[in-house]
Amino acid sequence: MKRALFILTGFIALCIGAMFVADGIPPLGGRSAASPVAAAADLPQSPIRRCMNMGGALEAPTEGAWGYTIQQADFRRLKQAGFDTVRVPIRFSVHTAPQPPYAIDRAFLARIDQVVDAALTEGLQIIIDVHHYEALMRHPDQHEARLEAIWSQLSYHYAKAPPQLIFELLNEPNDRMTVARTDALNARLLQIVRQHNPQRWVIVGSAGWGSLDALMDSHPPQDPGIIMTFHYYAPFEFTHQGADWVGEDLPLGVTWGDSDGYRAIARHMDEVKQWAAVRKLPLFLGEFGVINKADHRSRALWTEAVRLQAERNNMGWCYWDYATAFHAYDQNQQRWLPDMRKALTGR
Ligand code: BGC
Repeated sequence: MKRALFILTGFIALCIGAMFVADGIPPLGGRSAASPVAAAADLPQSPIRRCMNMGGALEAPTEGAWGYTIQQADFRRLKQAGFDTVRVPIRFSVHTAPQPPYAIDRAFLARIDQVVDAALTEGLQIIIDVHHYEALMRHPDQHEARLEAIWSQLSYHYAKAPPQLIFELLNEPNDRMTVARTDALNARLLQIVRQHNPQRWVIVGSAGWGSLDALMDSHPPQDPGIIMTFHYYAPFEFTHQGADWVGEDLPLGVTWGDSDGYRAIARHMDEVKQWAAVRKLPLFLGEFGVINKADHRSRALWTEAVRLQAERNNMGWCYWDYATAFHAYDQNQQRWLPDMRKALTGR
């Protein structure tokens, strides 16, 4: 499903891009013919520049079940390598009571506190996001109130936390969480968060598994403290080759690196940047990455190309991920993969 949407949105983006480029007009995402292109040059600065996704730990059913447990030393290593932020995906839905008032498990919240403290101690910003809330995607009528209760508790619990703690409302809405439904839910969640966190940065995304097309169709809440996010895994056949969770076998051996590939990344990043800049919204590329089964040279080239395009457009970025299937750091050997470290940090 994730794959089908990527292909469709990628194809539409390419067609729109091709139409406008052929006319010599920069692509606007085809959203608003009246948008002033000239005014779109500058994107407001995101407080996040270089970020790593600590995937596979707290969004697993239990931490460690997917082979990775977050350690403070990981945060120290990331800081030393030049990262300023970590994003921690968290499966709150399995640690929250099924009935009102939907209490989050105290021991689990204490573990999140530890992780937050560890990141702050190492001088990093930390994003906590509600990840893999799959039942919400299938049955939003039954689960939206529960997610509101989760954010109400988190908002209260972290009301006094330093500003380096950043909230992300919901990872990759999909299925019945349409763009319109996600817009409405985002507005309500933000209102809840703002009751105790009037100033905190809050990351807001849209539907379609975080696709840039869905983002450009969305209507974000009016709020000076939000950052818009999207995820980028195109071409999906390359980034997810051999991935056993996408519902079909994508063959191995797909390489990347011709000039069309570079042009596609530049076009997509430009398109979403134009959208955000006219709305004066900071942008955060919250996930991008390539599975470790891909050809290593292609993998490093793609990663560096996306990273450089994000930086060129003044977007913060966050590589997926640190230590699991898309890893840049090798837990067994206890060292960075040198080509991935270079792709991400330039050294
Ligand atoms: C998911 C991961 C997955 C990654 C790439 C993330 O949003 O949470 O499980 O590995 O996307 O598909």
